Amino acid sequence: MKYDRIGKQLYIQNRAKFVQHMDSNSLAVFNSNDIYPVSADSTIPFQQHRDILYLSGVDQEESILVLFPDSKNEAHKEVLFLKETSELIAVWEGEKLTKENAFEVSGIKTVYWLNQFPVMFKQMMAEATAVYVNTNEHLRANTEVQTREDRFIVKLKSDYPAHTTRKSAPIMHRIRSVKESIELELMQKACKITESGIRRLLSFIQPGVWEYEIEAELAHEFLRKRSNGFAYTPIIASGKNACVLHYIENNQICLDGDVILLDVGAEYANYSSDLTRCIPVNGRFTERQRNVYNAVLHVKTEAEKLLVPGTMMAEYHKEVGLLMENQLLGLGLIDKTDIKNQKAEWPAYKKYFMHGTSHFIGLDTHDVGLWNEPIQAGMVFTCEPGIYIPEEGLGIRLEDDLVVQASGQPFNLMKDIPLEAAEIEDLMHP
Ligand code: GLY
Ligand code: MN
Ligand code: MN
Repeated sequence: MKYDRIGKQLYIQNRAKFVQHMDSNSLAVFNSNDIYPVSADSTIPFQQHRDILYLSGVDQEESILVLFPDSKNEAHKEVLFLKETSELIAVWEGEKLTKENAFEVSGIKTVYWLNQFPVMFKQMMAEATAVYVNTNEHLRANTEVQTREDRFIVKLKSDYPAHTTRKSAPIMHRIRSVKESIELELMQKACKITESGIRRLLSFIQPGVWEYEIEAELAHEFLRKRSNGFAYTPIIASGKNACVLHYIENNQICLDGDVILLDVGAEYANYSSDLTRCIPVNGRFTERQRNVYNAVLHVKTEAEKLLVPGTMMAEYHKEVGLLMENQLLGLGLIDKTDIKNQKAEWPAYKKYFMHGTSHFIGLDTHDVGLWNEPIQAGMVFTCEPGIYIPEEGLGIRLEDDLVVQASGQPFNLMKDIPLEAAEIEDLMHP
């Protein structure tokens, strides 16, 4: 880990929140992610499952957390199982958590080695009537692989067919969606690292630079600021590439007269930042580019005002659609007839703005959250309207990360990152 230790109080609090929602005499299990293989002996760098991380701070593979608040055995109210460390592992892989370190990280007193899991878990299950399992209920999750958690659930159901199962996911979505102040500090830090990257680019970008050179600048800046790197695969899309929403090739040359769409964010301590800025390759927007830019900026500014307690996200997205419709009319991209003929499920504005405006952000970039309840203070959302005009080789999206506040306007974690077209131009021509 490159980040500073977070302090166990956060995890003690997070577990208390989860346990509050559990039925009596039930236990809950959370697994680490697998280390995913490539081929031969190569693996993809480990990414901890965000739920066990949120509840324990344990950022290590092959870990299991069991919460059993009603256990008659005081020592089994919360238990961590960890891969046993050894001198051999220390030599080849570096230090893994000792039982003492695991307590320091998580605040969990009972730590067993993983090989004790079958015996200890059997004891706990004999006492419990129901078990919470952690399925992935994110609506956009699209995984073909069976995760370590999925494998565990299959085995659990076969080994313990008489237990009732319950879902952890709705509880996790609820508690993870409202951030603690320490989490907001970590997210602010991730945004600050992203800011350093963007500022560095403003004096680097010029005609002839390659998209991957921009990616390299950002990677260098993020890593030297103690980030593990990009929070998600970066989109560095010049000219018409910006109209491909998930363009991640980043292998084209940036041409004089084009605009580059940068959807890039650093992670810090596993928390994401998610930013989009659009930068003219030669340092000046054309009049048309600026008009489209300002239309998107207007929608963003107005949309952000709606991110206040009580807003329903479905209503919010409808409102933003109307804001966008107005701007597209002004730009001459759609007309009144298009609006008259539009279908309710596919309004005319979607021809140029075909994605959502906001998503929850936190430990996951597209974080879990409560989509069907009024939004609350402490929730963090992106705001990211865009206009994509393939026939003009131009795509503009602007994106910041905002904290909903108890009163007043949301707090913009990216408020110091240049946004106005004129400010970007000035920084490119000091
Ligand atoms: N970077 C992914 C998104 O903006 O949602
Ligand atoms: Mn983004
Ligand atoms: Mn986003």
